[in-house]
Amino acid sequence: MTQFAQRIATASAAALITELVDNPAHRATRFPDLEGSLNSQNMADAAAEISRWPGYAATPLHRLPELAAWLGVREVLYKDEAMRFGLGSFKSLGGAYAVVKLVAEKCTIDKLPSNITVTTATDGNHGRSVAWGAQRAGCKAVIYIHSKVSCARETAMRQLGAKVVRVDGHYEASLAACKHDAETHGWQVVSDTSWPGYSKVPLQVMAGYSVLAREVLQQSAGSLISHAILPIGVGGLAAAVVAKLWQAMGDQLCRVISVESDLSACFLRSIEAQMPIFWDIKKETLMAGLSCGEVSSLAWDILQPTLSHCLSITDDAVAPLMRLFAHGFSDGLSIEAGECATAGLAGLLAARRDTDLWRSMGFDRSSVILLIGTEGATDPELYRSIVDGAD
Ligand SMILES: Cc1ncc(COP(=O)(O)O)c(C=O)c1O
Repeated sequence: MTQFAQRIATASAAALITELVDNPAHRATRFPDLEGSLNSQNMADAAAEISRWPGYAATPLHRLPELAAWLGVREVLYKDEAMRFGLGSFKSLGGAYAVVKLVAEKCTIDKLPSNITVTTATDGNHGRSVAWGAQRAGCKAVIYIHSKVSCARETAMRQLGAKVVRVDGHYEASLAACKHDAETHGWQVVSDTSWPGYSKVPLQVMAGYSVLAREVLQQSAGSLISHAILPIGVGGLAAAVVAKLWQAMGDQLCRVISVESDLSACFLRSIEAQMPIFWDIKKETLMAGLSCGEVSSLAWDILQPTLSHCLSITDDAVAPLMRLFAHGFSDGLSIEAGECATAGLAGLLAARRDTDLWRSMGFDRSSVILLIGTEGATDPELYRSIVDGAD
C-alpha cells in the first residue's frame, strides 16, 4: 500500500458528515450584479488595488491527480492560501483591503491616519489582516479575541503593532465588546461579518477575498469547475468565491456546497429554515476560523440562492488530513494545510463513502472539484504538534 493510499484511507474513515441539507431555494439565475452587494465593480476595484501591493503574487492552484483518481473524478483543484502575503491565510486579502479603503475615506487634512483607530473581533486570521492593514495605512488597531483564541495567534497580531484585548466567552462576546468600545471611543469597526445597518466595510472585505477566486478562474482555464466546496464561518469567503464564479459562469454556475463545523453550523440551520438563524456555540471546533454562530447578511443574500447543499462535519478528519497534505502525496508534493484548510476535503471524503449521496450531489467521472485551502500554519506550534503526531 502506498503512503497516499494509507493516509487517504485513514482520513476517509475519520471524515464524518453529521448533517446535510439540500437547499430548497437553490436555483440557476444570472449573476445579479447589484449595487450595495458584491458586484463586478467592487470586485474589479479590489483586484486593481491588491495586485499593486508589494509582495502580491497569485497563490498556487494545485492539481491533485492522485486524489482525483482515488475519488473517481476528473480533477481536484486546491487553491493554497498558506503563503498569502506571508500572513498564512486568505484573510490577508480582506481585512487589510477594507482598512486601506476606510483610511483613505476618513483621512482629511485635519485627520491624519495616526488619529484613526480601527477595531475588530476575530478568531485570529481576520485580526491579523486588520493589524497588517493598519500598519501599512499608518493607523492604530485594537483587536478583540475570545477566551479560546490561541496565544500564538494573539502574539502574531501584537507583532504587527495591534493592541489585543482578550474577552471571556466565544466569538459573539468579543464582537459585542468590540462594538461597545468602538461606540464609546469613536473607533472604526472593520468586521468581516455584516449585519443590518453595517455592510459597507464587510462588503470591501469580501471584495478583497474575491481576488482569490479571480486567480482561480485564470489558473483553471480549460478545466470547467463543476463543484466548489467552500468552508463557512460567517460566509464571507464562500460568498466572495461564489460571486466571482457566478459572474463568470452566469446561469451555468457550478454546484456550490458549504462545509461547516458541527459545533457552529449556522448556515446549514439557516438554509434549512430559509432565514438567518443564530447558533449558540457551546464548544469550540479545532477549525477555529469556522467557529461563528451568526451568518453575515451580505453573504446570506449571495449564498441563499446559490448553495446546492450544506454539510456539517466533525473535527475527526482534521489531523489525518493535515498529515495527508503535509506528507501524503506520492509525487512528493507537500502542502501546508492548517486546520480550516481540511474542511472541504473532509466533507468530500465523507460524501464519497455514500454512493447515493455522491450521485445526488452530482459527482461523477467528469467532475472538476474546487477546494479552498484557506490557511497554512497560522498557529505554527499547533500545526507542528498535529502534523508530527501519529495517526
Ligand atoms: C482559515 C479560515 N478559513 C475559513 C474561514 C471562514 O471564512 P468566513 O468567516 O468568511 O466564512 C475563516 C474565517 O475566519 C478562516 O480564518
